[in-house]
Amino acid sequence: MQEEPESIERIKSVFDELSSRFDSFAEMLQGRVYGYVTWEHLKKYLPEDENSLILDAGGGTGKWALPLAKRGYRVILCDISKGMLEQAEKKIIKENLSDRVKIQEENLTNLSFPHEMFDFVLCEDGPISISDSQKVLSELRRVLKKEGKIWASVIGRYPLALTEAEKDPEQAYKLCKRELHYLPYKGIERARVFSPDELQNLFERNGIEVIKLYGNRILMRSLPEQIQAMTDFDERLFSDLAEMELALSEEPSVLGMAEYLQITGEK
Ligand SMILES: C[S@@+](CC[C@H](N)C(=O)[O-])C[C@H]1O[C@@H](n2cnc3c(N)ncnc32)[C@H](O)[C@@H]1O
Repeated sequence: MQEEPESIERIKSVFDELSSRFDSFAEMLQGRVYGYVTWEHLKKYLPEDENSLILDAGGGTGKWALPLAKRGYRVILCDISKGMLEQAEKKIIKENLSDRVKIQEENLTNLSFPHEMFDFVLCEDGPISISDSQKVLSELRRVLKKEGKIWASVIGRYPLALTEAEKDPEQAYKLCKRELHYLPYKGIERARVFSPDELQNLFERNGIEVIKLYGNRILMRSLPEQIQAMTDFDERLFSDLAEMELALSEEPSVLGMAEYLQITGEK
């Protein structure tokens, strides 16, 4: 396994191919729970001024750009995948949000925006793990205003190490000892995995003061796949699982077992 990020060309082609199916995750029980927990925390850090400008970095099909625009924020949704942006555009037009969400094709490792343009930067569901983490974070910090906040999520190291132990114990051991940092993940050949302290260090090294880390997909990843993927489920089941995942997301003793590590900080 090469210890370097995936090429930009390969990222484009993976997400172009996935784009028409990407939103089906949000309809599954696992997607609903992930979205609920994320929003419950994310909303606490959003700017008070609802006219603020937000960068949705690697924003894909607009999962977060749309609800942010509905709250009144101005959003620039950027992504490297044309396919993902096309899906986002359809939804923006359908929901009549074109005056608030602008779409732009960008590479997060080399953004075209000027310094300190955005009041808030969102980089949810993995772009920092998928691309060159250091380059992406340094760019996100550059375009964020002083005292502006950032929210991001990455792939957790330890849940992947445990899954890997069944297939390749030697590789799993290297992941646990932090001798290995990249692993195939959901169609990506090499995704960067992080322990909570590796993620915290990345942010601090880049001049972002960490406010808090959260865990997501601690409970849901432990359930059988057919339950995670259910699309027809009782609302009571959803709310029980969502509240349990929410409680675990703030429990420091299980943070390292989260498949998605979520972090918020201030420049
Ligand atoms: C798993 S999707 C998440 C999309 C969205 N943030 C969400 O939460 O639904 C990851 C996205 O990151 C984008 N991405 C990865 N590396 C990128 C880069 N270097 N520049 C721009 N976008 C990138 C991909 O194209 C993809 O749309």
